[in-house]
Amino acid sequence: MVRESTLKRSKGRRILTIMAKIFVTRKIPGEHLEELKKAGHEVEISEFNRPITQEELVEKVKGVDALLCLLTDRIDGDLMDAAGPQLKIISNYAVGFDNVDIKAASDRQIPVCNTPSDEVNEAVAEHTWALILSIARRIVEADEATRRGGYKGWEPDIFIGTNLIGKTLGIIGLGRIGTMVARRAKGYNMTVLYNKHEPDPEAEKELGIKFAPLDELLAKSDFVSLHVPLTEETRHMINKETLAKMKKGSFLVNTARGQVVDERDLIEALKSGHLGGAALDVYDNEPNIDPEFLGMPNTITTPHIASATLEAREKMGQQAVSTILDSLGGKKPENLVNEEVWENRRK
Ligand code: DGY
Repeated sequence: MVRESTLKRSKGRRILTIMAKIFVTRKIPGEHLEELKKAGHEVEISEFNRPITQEELVEKVKGVDALLCLLTDRIDGDLMDAAGPQLKIISNYAVGFDNVDIKAASDRQIPVCNTPSDEVNEAVAEHTWALILSIARRIVEADEATRRGGYKGWEPDIFIGTNLIGKTLGIIGLGRIGTMVARRAKGYNMTVLYNKHEPDPEAEKELGIKFAPLDELLAKSDFVSLHVPLTEETRHMINKETLAKMKKGSFLVNTARGQVVDERDLIEALKSGHLGGAALDVYDNEPNIDPEFLGMPNTITTPHIASATLEAREKMGQQAVSTILDSLGGKKPENLVNEEVWENRRK
């Protein structure tokens, strides 16, 4: 169903422009939102410089044809129904889409897209490495001590870290980001084990990495890095039991989703000294971070910034917008998460 349409005249040709109503849940970096307006659509951008509340969102989506949302927004069936039967595209400005109820969208024949470009994936892979290096070499602790005036001259026994060369990196989830993390491990001469549903002989050949069942990966890795999406299967997959299987003194790095880890169990493993440290970019209950993490010297906590590079944000904006323009124009957009709905999508 087309909500409203106008006929425009350009260079003597009659062009049918479909005027859609689009809501953007927060201003995003770059100029891409302008393209939605230039295409003749009616665009409303949330006026708040903070995540929109669910109540506000329910009000704002009423009557929209397209929704550009962020990973901080919960897009469930109720919200889709609150929007109304004309909602025909959801564009999620993130790689992860666990904030969108995909089944609810598919049940309603609404296409959902995400923004998984090389630029974003590489940004996340690079941030993962920043965390691996920082936790191995105690960079944050050392920087804090230096800023407090703690550097009194070279000492042989301060901030002793660990070399990466010869160590084992265990990658859980060898999708696009996990693969980029694995590729970079070569430069550090690390052994790489990975775990995913099925072994990937091509990746093994290309990257010189080896498949390991989860228990073996946990037992052998000095660093374990998480790159799985959040699903019912992966929720709290790192818990008391799996943490106990990790090598003593090893490190956990999480740039995936906070709920993949049972944070209480992780805190216990860190406090007991079983784990050497944890470097986290994501948390169970964002933006709240368990204060125990903040009080521990062997944790690094970044505020969900793994994809926060100029290049990644630029690409995310471009993809999130072109998804909407393509979809409204009847062209199958890139990065459809629920591809099966496209043929019979809502119109
Ligand atoms: C995403 O895009 O899903 C990431 O979490 C951003 O860091």
